[in-house]
Parts: sequence; structure tokens; C-alpha cells
Amino acid sequence: MASSVASSVASSAATAEKLPEKSALTVDGLEVSFNTDDGPIKAIDQVSFDLTPGKTLALVGESGSGKSITAFSIMRLLPKVARVTGGTIHFDNADLLTVPDLNMRHYRGDRIGMIFQEPMTALNPVYRVGDQIAEVLHIHFGTEKDQALTKAIEMLERVGIPDAPARAQAFPHQLSGGMRQRVMIAMALICEPDILIADEPTTALDVTIQAQILDLIMDMQAEMGMAILFITHDLAVVSEFADEVMVMYAGRIVERAPTKDLFEDPKHPYTRGLIETLPVSGKHRERLPTIPGQVPPLTQLPDGCRYSNRCPLVDDECRRKEPGLLDMGAMGAMGAERFAACWKAQP
Ligand SMILES: Nc1ncnc2c1ncn2[C@@H]1O[C@H](COP(=O)(O)OP(=O)(O)O)[C@@H](O)[C@H]1O
Ligand SMILES: [Mg+2]
Repeated sequence: MASSVASSVASSAATAEKLPEKSALTVDGLEVSFNTDDGPIKAIDQVSFDLTPGKTLALVGESGSGKSITAFSIMRLLPKVARVTGGTIHFDNADLLTVPDLNMRHYRGDRIGMIFQEPMTALNPVYRVGDQIAEVLHIHFGTEKDQALTKAIEMLERVGIPDAPARAQAFPHQLSGGMRQRVMIAMALICEPDILIADEPTTALDVTIQAQILDLIMDMQAEMGMAILFITHDLAVVSEFADEVMVMYAGRIVERAPTKDLFEDPKHPYTRGLIETLPVSGKHRERLPTIPGQVPPLTQLPDGCRYSNRCPLVDDECRRKEPGLLDMGAMGAMGAERFAACWKAQP
């Protein structure tokens, strides 16, 4: 993977001048609540970040921490029982949270593409994959059928599908998991979006295919210059892949840092726990260590810091008051600032 990372960086420098201008996206103070039988719960709380053209921001956290709900908020695809109760999502002089449904169609799929863990949720089983990709072009740009199919086949070639004209005739179930994931990437990128949201796109794939798909996503970014929000529960995946990492815990961002700085010097005890539980290559361990305890249900968050019931550093201050994201100072080669939501974190 390292060599292809180097080659995609090189090709990104070479093509930088030709790349079309892409827009950034800014999420500010996002809050999302669910109505549940146990009363309303705040699944997303004060989440803020921005996506920069050509850069990859990873969003990492255990299952249930709020990653997908963050993504669905941007796409305006939240479940019916969810409600946005605060914040803004600025993109291209519009607040995506308030634009009319009709205008939202222009952003979703055209300017902002999304890929999921399970391609079958995005692909229709009864249509040939080439026609499905062509249909996206037809809907967004009115491209006429034959020409759209030609473009779809070109796109299948670009995402590394061998014998693309023949594969375009296949139905989704006739393709392997890795090939289906490539088809979904082709579909998400056919309109050359400004933003790509990838929600656990490699989680269902075996390790070799996973590396190939990550390489593909990086190559496409070098070609197209879009910003990527890369969502995963697996911190190991992002180490070679993301420019910056946000760690999410029970609905809040608890740390944000450039990737290298995060791994070398994690500031939040939760991030440290996640890193310590990663498998170490070349070192066999009978059982991987785990962080003691569990993410509490959102209806039963502890007083003060939401990590206090699992934290090895907890004291009375932590149980009294919840820390917001505290400035840990500019750090690292990129000079990007870093933040951690912890009273005990040292700049
Ligand atoms: N359909 C739903 N109904 C009620 N609560 C939900 C629903 N979907 C998600 N939630 C709540 O939002 C939290 C975050 O969910 P999600 O964003 O899917 O987590 P992740 O993608 O990090 O695994 C869940 O832990 C749950 O409390
Ligand atoms: Mg999810």
C-alpha cells in the first residue's frame, strides 16, 4: 500500500493544476436527537468540523458512537424518528439543513457522493450495473441514454473493473463483494462530486481487497480533488490513509488531530485506549486488550465527562463538569491545530 500512497501523492502534485475547483463543507455545532421509548436522546452533540478539497478527514469511533448519523445529517437522509436540533452545515453558500428538499437533490449524488459498507443497499438488484451508473448521469445532467452508458463504462474502467463493457451488463449479484464496492464507488464518483462520504466502505471486505479499495479511493481523490469524510470503527485503517482524524465517543468529538500526531501522541485517554488495543504487526498476542467497560447508553451518560466511567485518569473535576474540545496548540508538520475534550490532557 505504501508505494501506491507515494504514487498517488506524486500524481496529485502533477495533476493539481488541472483539477477543477471544489467546494469545502463546514459542519458547525450539529445536534441530532431521537425520540425513543425512553424519551428523547441526543445522538449527536456539538459536532463541528470542516472538509477541505483534496484532503481526507477520518471519523473514528466504536459502533453506536454517532458516525453514520453524522453522515446522514449531511446527506439529509436521517431516519424519520431523528431530528436536527441545532447547528449548520454550510456548503457552497447554502445551509444544507435548511435548503428545500427539491434543491437538496442537486447536492445529494451530484455534489456530494456517498458509499456504504454494504453495496447492495445502494445498488438495485434488478438492474444491470452499467445502466444504474448511467441513470445517475441521466438524472443529474440529463445525459442521453447511449452517451451515459458509454460514460458509465469509462467510469467502470477508471475504478479498475476488468473487461468493463461486459461487466456493465452484469447484475449486482453476479459480481464479487470487491467488484460491487468498485461499482458503488463508480456510481458515487460519476458526477465528480466535491465531497465523498465513505461510511465503513471496506468493513465487509477481506484484508487484501480492503487495501485495494482504499488505494482506489486515494487514486480517485488524486484525480478528482474531492474532500473525503472517511468513517470507520477501525483506527488501524486510517493510519496510512487520512490527513486528519476525529475520534467520536457517545455522540461527541473527543479528539481531533493530524493523523501522525494522533498516533504518536494521543491526547485523550479514549484515543490512547483505542491505539493500545490495536494489533501490533509481528507481535502475537493471545487476546487483544480491550478498553474496560462499555459505551454507556445515551440515556444513561455519567455526570460530567461522558468518558468518566471508563477513564483511568478520572477525578472529581471530571465527574463535575464535561470538558468541551480544548485547544492543544498547533502541532505537527502540517501545523494543523489539535483539540481534545479532556481536563487531564496536556498541550
Ligand atoms: N433508528 C434509530 N432509532 C433510534 N436511535 C437511533 C437510530 N439510529 C441511531 N440511533 C442512535 O444513534 C446512535 C448513533 O448511531 P450511528 O450513527 O448509527 O452509530 P455508528 O455509525 O457510529 O455505529 C446510536 O447509538 C443510537 O443511540
Ligand atoms: Mg455506522
